Amino acid sequence: MIGATEGWLLTDAEATRAAGAALGRLVPAGLVLLAEGDLGAGKTTFAQGLARGLGVPPEHYVNSPTFAILQTHPGRVPFHHIDLYRLGDPDEIWALGLDDVLEGDGVSFVEWPERWPELAEGPHLRVHLADGPGGGRRLEITAQGAVAEGVRQAFIAAHGS
Ligand SMILES: Nc1ncnc2c1ncn2[C@@H]1O[C@H](COP(=O)(O)OP(=O)(O)OP(=O)(O)O)[C@@H](O)[C@H]1O
Ligand SMILES: [Mg+2]
Repeated sequence: MIGATEGWLLTDAEATRAAGAALGRLVPAGLVLLAEGDLGAGKTTFAQGLARGLGVPPEHYVNSPTFAILQTHPGRVPFHHIDLYRLGDPDEIWALGLDDVLEGDGVSFVEWPERWPELAEGPHLRVHLADGPGGGRRLEITAQGAVAEGVRQAFIAAHGS
């Protein structure tokens, strides 16, 4: 993970996992992370690292919960991995009780949060992944709300900015 003023450069998939793991060690229960980035940007790879940092046992393989929309893994707090890519009807959000999941005391990581625009109105930490030099990725983290901002500052203190 190479810090730069525009964020961090992640040279390969393991660097994406390492960044997720570093963040996972810092996040408090209740935090909502919104993962933005194009198809294949590395959001699920980052979630695998987050799971590691949250103490999810390695045998809990974190893959794209494409068909499930929500997968919860046990860790030091529950890790809710949500992928809204295939969300059909917005009513599915309520049918699945996603609002309750996000308000619970786990840590939630949402891929394709654009499918549920109201999500961005609440407190959250935004993880943005984009193409970087040499086939790698660039990571940017922004925060909305005091708790998320505290996590962002702690991450910067540990890994530069
Ligand atoms: N820093 C990186 N450098 C190069 N390749 C990476 C990096 N991080 C992840 N990848 C690779 O990018 C590919 C896509 O990753 P991933 O499935 O995590 O993306 P995604 O954003 O979740 O995609 P989707 O939008 O389909 O959910 C994988 O092959 C992964 O190994
Ligand atoms: Mg994915």
